[in-house]
Amino acid sequence: MPAGSMTIRPVTPLIGAEVDGVDLGQSLDDRVLCDLHQAWLDHQVLFFRDQQLGPASLQALGRRFGPLHVHPQGDMEGFEGILKIHADRNSKTYAGRKWHADVTCDEEPPTGSILHMHEVPESGGDTLFANMVAAHDALSAPMQTFLSGLTAVHTSERNFAGYYGTRLEETRDGDYPETTHPVVAVHPETGAKALYVNEIFTSHIVELEPDEGRALLDFLYRHISQPRFQCRFQWRRNSVAMWDNRATQHLAMFDYWPHTRAGHRVTIRGARPQAA
Ligand code: SIN
Repeated sequence: MPAGSMTIRPVTPLIGAEVDGVDLGQSLDDRVLCDLHQAWLDHQVLFFRDQQLGPASLQALGRRFGPLHVHPQGDMEGFEGILKIHADRNSKTYAGRKWHADVTCDEEPPTGSILHMHEVPESGGDTLFANMVAAHDALSAPMQTFLSGLTAVHTSERNFAGYYGTRLEETRDGDYPETTHPVVAVHPETGAKALYVNEIFTSHIVELEPDEGRALLDFLYRHISQPRFQCRFQWRRNSVAMWDNRATQHLAMFDYWPHTRAGHRVTIRGARPQAA
């Protein structure tokens, strides 16, 4: 789908596309923005190379797609909507260690995220992305019907307090957000149905007994993580990934110790997920 000098090359038929011929550090004109938005919906995650983006230009880029979402653990100082992604030889924690969509503990999780990497290890540190619409569609019709009647609790305390050690007073709203979302959510722009539970935030299924819910979530996490739904992005310095948080999950590989991997992520404000 060429747009002027922009070219879009799918990574797999199911998920991911590499985009060339666009400078994300420049103000995007409406035509390019519209084509990028459509490509993002079509491919769910877009990859760009050689993009010079500091936190301020990443913020400006994010705002072209909508108002920014503020992370419950707070922004990078002075940059609303920007989250630092950083791991090095001394890191005890790192972002994205399990399959997840971003910040589903919020009532209105982000529509999408744009991650720019300014320091990459010599090898390793890839990010894997998986298509949650394809994962839903691959389930049998009776299973899809069963899931469509369920809701799940998404909680942040075990991740923000338990894993990162973030204190209440450091959080955006003075709490660890928790909310309930449908297990299958309808994408507000494409109308597609996507699996909407994840290993980082989902704690349990509201309508099921604890053992039933645990078994179902374990099954869904195994199902979601099948390589057939995935693509894998190998970062280079100044690469960018832009994913649709309503249709995908991702996993960051921490396989590069003792090296450093660092970037900035901006997230775009979203709406409350709706049941199928
Ligand atoms: C995240 O947004 O979960 C981190 C992704 C990454 O570091 O590749």
